[in-house]
Order: sequence, then structure tokens, then C-alpha cells
Amino acid sequence: MSESSPTTSTTSDASIRAEGLVKQFKDGPRAVDGIDLEVAPGEIYGFLGPNGAGKSTTVLMLTTLLPITDGRASVGGFDVATQGSHVRATIGAALQEAALDPNLTAVEHMRLQTALQGIAKADRKRLGDDLIERVGLSDAADRKAGTYSGGMRRRLDLALSLVHRPRILFLDEPTTGLDPQSRTALWEEVARLAREDGTTIFLTTQYLEEADQLADRVGIIDGGKIVAEGTPAALKSEIGLPAVEILPADPGDHERVIDVLRANCSYDESQQTGNGTVSGRLREGTGLTEIVRALDAAGLKVANLAVHAPTLDDVFLAKTGRKLEGAGDDEEQDEHDHDGHHH
Ligand SMILES: Nc1ncnc2c1ncn2[C@@H]1O[C@H](COP(=O)(O)OP(=O)(O)OP(=O)(O)O)[C@@H](O)[C@H]1O
Ligand SMILES: [Mg+2]
Repeated sequence: MSESSPTTSTTSDASIRAEGLVKQFKDGPRAVDGIDLEVAPGEIYGFLGPNGAGKSTTVLMLTTLLPITDGRASVGGFDVATQGSHVRATIGAALQEAALDPNLTAVEHMRLQTALQGIAKADRKRLGDDLIERVGLSDAADRKAGTYSGGMRRRLDLALSLVHRPRILFLDEPTTGLDPQSRTALWEEVARLAREDGTTIFLTTQYLEEADQLADRVGIIDGGKIVAEGTPAALKSEIGLPAVEILPADPGDHERVIDVLRANCSYDESQQTGNGTVSGRLREGTGLTEIVRALDAAGLKVANLAVHAPTLDDVFLAKTGRKLEGAGDDEEQDEHDHDGHHH
């Protein structure tokens, strides 16, 4: 089947656009359930969600590796369903299951990839070595990928995805399994690609901190649906003022501490974690001082009192009623639990 030429592609300012995107697996879950999103050129878009949320399925559809069930999507102005080869020529992708040959070294992988991508023979070695160095694999460049740690495989896969200088880069959980130092190095590299090369980056993650620090905009996905979207700052400010958490010294004081919170904070029964700590969100005009005074006046002793500014986890909690950490399918359970439901 011949594809329509690039010139007939719909003009669109967005680098990535999805409208009503759906993936219904046969005899499986509706893994992606009507997603709308737009990513601007040069933007870092963080797709944040727990295990089984539908992140990889979305990435696989946007990169043309999985057919879409419904809706439409375009990448670099090309339709993913009808202009797949143009999409593939425009993008780079480092997927969750890195496709590396365990018998090839990093240098050999690079030699192959630079040749496949039509890099001039004279430039291949230098480009390959540069990219290996950029992802911090120079010391292991001549070792077989089969001997690499998970994090090293991730980094080699990223280097390979950069060979043809893609305008749009998809990274599926690029830092899972990386030690903190390698994670920071990868964040810097991703930020550099966006800042200096103007690369558009679509990055999935389960890490709040990663989305918060790296992404210009974040989409929070749960159960195949985007439940919140915006800049990290805007999402957090929607939540409101900082939360106060109080652990009564005497568990018997639980109800009375709740009364104090109700009087001074916005208290929501459904947001309580049930481990004895009571939490509420400060209201405009009330501060910690008022709460401490009220506790004191009521003769209540506390074992712990903490205040914390809203995080993306609070955003997730507000939208789904669950904490992001520990939400979603359990890794081990995942083998037996493909129903896509969340517990
Ligand atoms: N090929 C498939 N056939 C059937 N169901 C699938 C298939 N791939 C994924 N699923 C299911 O679709 C849902 C979404 O999976 P997906 O891999 O997109 O989640 P994810 O957000 O990437 O999770 P993780 O953080 O664990 O990588 C899950 O319930 C998963 O079990
Ligand atoms: Mg995934």
C-alpha cells in the first residue's frame, strides 16, 4: 500500500497529537480509553502513571508499532495509521523492552545502527563513539550487551535512538532501574536535547520527581484515561494550599484531632490513609500556628506534625482517590492479572 506523500499531511503546529485514541486488546483490556493530547515542538511531555495505566500502549500506537483501535493520532504532522513510514523516519524511540543483541557490543550496535540509518561511512565511528560517551557507556563500549545491567541496556538503547537525530523522541520509562547518578545524567541529556536541539520529547514515567523536574507539561494517566494535565506548577496549585498531617500521641484522641482539623482546614474523610495520621489542607488565612494553638487549647498531644506542599502525588490522589506510589498492577501479580482493573 502506498502512503500519501509528506506534502499532503495535515498542517499542524503540534509535534504529537492524539484525538480520542483507543486501544482495545482482543480478549483483553481497553488499555487506552480515549486519549486527547498535544505536544508542542521542543516540549518535554511527561506521561505519568502507575503500572498498567496504558503508557506503553499509547507509546506503541504513537510510534506505529501497534495499530490503533479508534480515534486518530499524528506525529510530526503525519498520520500514524496511514503514513507510518514517514512517522518512523521522523522519530526516535527507546522502548520499555529494549531490542538489543546480547552478543553485540555497544560499538557494534552503533556500527549497525549508523549503517542502517544511512550515516556516511566516514562519520559512523565518530558519531557512534560520541553517542556512547554521551550516555556514559564509554568504559563498557567493547563489552557485549548481554553482560550489561538493565540501566546500561537502557542507556545504550537511548544512544541508538539518537543516531538519526530525530526531531521527536519517545522514551518509555527511560530511568527505571537506573541508579540515582545515572538517572540524573539521563535527565540532563534529555533536557539538553530539548533545549539545544529543539527535540520534542514524549517520556513516560512512574516517578513523580522525574515528571516534576523534567517535564514542561505532564499528563497523568490512569486506567487508560488522562485524569489531569498541565504544567507541574499548575497541577500542584490546583490542589491548593499545603497539607497538614497530625499523628495524635494517644490513638484515642483521633476523633478530637479530626475536630481540630475540621475547624481549621478543609478536611476530607476520603483522603485519610487510615494509619492513625489525620490530614487536612490549610485554608486561606489559617496557618500552622492556628492549628498548634487549637491543639494546645484542646489539650491534645501529638506524636508527629508535618506540613507538606502539594506534590504530583497529591494531584494523582485527588483525581483517582489513590496514591501513585504502589498504585496499579503489582509487578509479580501482573502475570496473572491482565484484566486492567485497579485494586
Ligand atoms: N499485548 C497485550 N495484550 C493484552 N493486554 C495487554 C497487552 N499489552 C498490554 N496489555 C494490558 O494493557 C494494560 C496497559 O498496559 P501498558 O503496558 O500500556 O501499561 P503501562 O502504563 O506501560 O505500565 P508499566 O508502567 O507497568 O509499563 C495493562 O492492563 C496490560 O496488562
Ligand atoms: Mg509500560
